Amino acid sequence: MTKLEVINLTVEVDGKRILNNVNLTVESGEVVAIMGPNGSGKTTLFLTIAGHPRYRVVGGDIRLDGESIINLYPEERVQRGVLLAMQNPTPVPEVRLSTLITAMMNKKLGRHITDPPTPQVLTELTKLTAELGLKPEHLSRGVHAGFSGGESKRAEVLQLLMFKPKVALLDEPDSGLDVDGIAVIGRSIARLAKEGAAVLLTTHHAEILHYVRPTRVIVMHRGSVVHNGGEEVVRTIESMGYERFFREVLGIS
Ligand SMILES: Nc1ncnc2c1ncn2[C@@H]1O[C@H](COP(=O)(O)OP(=O)(O)OP(=O)(O)O)[C@@H](O)[C@H]1O
Ligand SMILES: [Mg+2]
Repeated sequence: MTKLEVINLTVEVDGKRILNNVNLTVESGEVVAIMGPNGSGKTTLFLTIAGHPRYRVVGGDIRLDGESIINLYPEERVQRGVLLAMQNPTPVPEVRLSTLITAMMNKKLGRHITDPPTPQVLTELTKLTAELGLKPEHLSRGVHAGFSGGESKRAEVLQLLMFKPKVALLDEPDSGLDVDGIAVIGRSIARLAKEGAAVLLTTHHAEILHYVRPTRVIVMHRGSVVHNGGEEVVRTIESMGYERFFREVLGIS
């Protein structure tokens, strides 16, 4: 069992307060969907959990299985099983996607980072690449180098599915995906949770949630969690829009 706890988390970027007293918990097998308007703090929350050095925790804690991780380097958090699929991944043209995934898997398996992939890793990589609608050619290209928006999303999820993290953070895994892509990625995320990962994902659309079936939906507003409930809130937000939802349902302006 894995449990990630975000406790009264307050975060600053370059001296500017972005998150205020955020609380949430996600356990093995659960999918928690985080919604909220542009700029409400979703990506900041994920980058802080992943350990991005620019995001300074000025209050509260992040605990993995009861142990604080806020003083760990990003690499150490990955080693503990916390992995982020980014909203806007940065291209690394000089490193092939297959090299990156092999290195990640070698590190996880306690092998030397530059060792060739194990036969199991190679088989799994070939299978998942095809399943996610990517071509073998993408594996031999630089990471996200010249990838289309949807291909980049698929490549981020490929890394996650290969690594099988304890805690999977997916920041808008559905943005820029075509309808088939949303179904494939949605089903893959559901499988990840079924296999025991604790999954946090952000989205602006209900569609991916048809496949993922979140355990809870959390809504953020100006760096705070303002609602924590079931899937029904997604339909309310879709029909009302955020401004009306905040004003008329939650009574905040
Ligand atoms: N490095 C930074 N410097 C200044 N402001 C920042 C920085 N990073 C984030 N912010 C601000 O923090 C707020 C939250 O940003 P964040 O990216 O977390 O929002 P989001 O909920 O992910 O939005 P979106 O739905 O558009 O992805 C925004 O107002 C953003 O401009
Ligand atoms: Mg974001």
